[in-house]
Amino acid sequence: MIRLDTTNTHDFYEMTPAMQERADNAHQQVVSKSGKGAEFLGWRDLLLSPNDALLEDLVQTAERIREEADVLVCIGIGGSYLGARAVIDALTEFFPVDDGGPEIIFAGHHMGDAYHSQLLRYLEGKSVFVNVISKSGTTLEPALAFRFLRNWLEARFADADKRIIVTTDPSKGALNILQSERGYTKYVIPPDVGGRFSVLTPVGLLPIAVAGVDIQALFYGAVSKLKEIDSEKGNDAVQYAATRVGLFEKGFSTEVLACFEPALSGIGGWWQQLFGESEGKEHTGVFPAALQYSTDLHSMGQYMQDGERKLMETFLMIDSHKSALTVPPSEDNLDGLNYISGKEVTFVNRQAYEGTSRAHRNGGVPNMTVWLDSLTPDCIGASLYFFEHAVAISGYLLGVNPFDQPGVEAYKNEMFQLLGKPEKPA
Ligand code: PA5
Repeated sequence: MIRLDTTNTHDFYEMTPAMQERADNAHQQVVSKSGKGAEFLGWRDLLLSPNDALLEDLVQTAERIREEADVLVCIGIGGSYLGARAVIDALTEFFPVDDGGPEIIFAGHHMGDAYHSQLLRYLEGKSVFVNVISKSGTTLEPALAFRFLRNWLEARFADADKRIIVTTDPSKGALNILQSERGYTKYVIPPDVGGRFSVLTPVGLLPIAVAGVDIQALFYGAVSKLKEIDSEKGNDAVQYAATRVGLFEKGFSTEVLACFEPALSGIGGWWQQLFGESEGKEHTGVFPAALQYSTDLHSMGQYMQDGERKLMETFLMIDSHKSALTVPPSEDNLDGLNYISGKEVTFVNRQAYEGTSRAHRNGGVPNMTVWLDSLTPDCIGASLYFFEHAVAISGYLLGVNPFDQPGVEAYKNEMFQLLGKPEKPA
């Protein structure tokens, strides 16, 4: 389902036996739960012992929402929204189609006043359901959005409480108090799964199922990838992690994840959080940046080709991507495109990738490619696990705990002080 090609890194870095050994040890630490932060490996456990009853329950709830809602508003930020958005973007159509399901809108992922006020206006007259997702239940952005959405729902629907689904910690946090008072449907985020690793829990799975994606195929795609990785010494996730850390140690301190398929841009955003929040600590870590090609070749392309030479690049590509469009011939050929007439658009896009990977390698940017067989739920599930496993190894190779995020508190402390937040909620 996944293939890693590191050919374009070989001029810059050759895997040493020492690095191979370090990476294999890191892999063993993940598998045997003996590394830093091992108490947060629940994202592996849930794949090692799949809870089919939970998957079925999520499908049932999603069916109810699909039948009754015009819009599902998913409230969450960071790990509580990026995974769902990534998978939905990858596996559903770009433009609204009437497949019987609701429109899915994200909220609470920032504090934009205009966005949220316009959202409330847009929802007027529609049948609205809300899935509020917060592991801690105390994050300001989603809490704020939920206060607006809850007031809005309660003012309009006698059955407002049935339209709210809470996804949170099993017992801690403000959302639990509200949930037990109002009897909202509740799903649990396992305490040993960090936000950025939670896409295959109800955090991601419920919105993804509401979007009409086959969550069983997604989930079991990840399970298959885990089994493959666990059973293979020197597997592709280990190679990816070892190569990027090997390059990092040679001064390539920024990694760009670039997709040529716009449906994968959400995966780029999810990957950025996964790697940035897992590795960027103790004053180390590869800086992750997601770009969308060929769009960004017309903006960041100059820097990629000619800027400071500390960049490595990973292309995320789809191998068997069917084309719906073929370049039509033109009698006048005024646009000069007849040289590609008859070619599929997918082919043209693929040549853009081939050309870019060559040009960037020749310009001093080592690059590798993660190939997905197809844009399907099982391959996307496999890719999610591939990157999750790789970041754990990568973090261990860098000597950090990949599963905590102490740095995200600093800005919150400053902000809460400015806002006059009391020690305990009034
Ligand atoms: O990965 C993380 O831990 C963070 O991105 C959190 O998911 C994010 O801050 C949201 O937190 P919560 O789900 O507690 O509201």
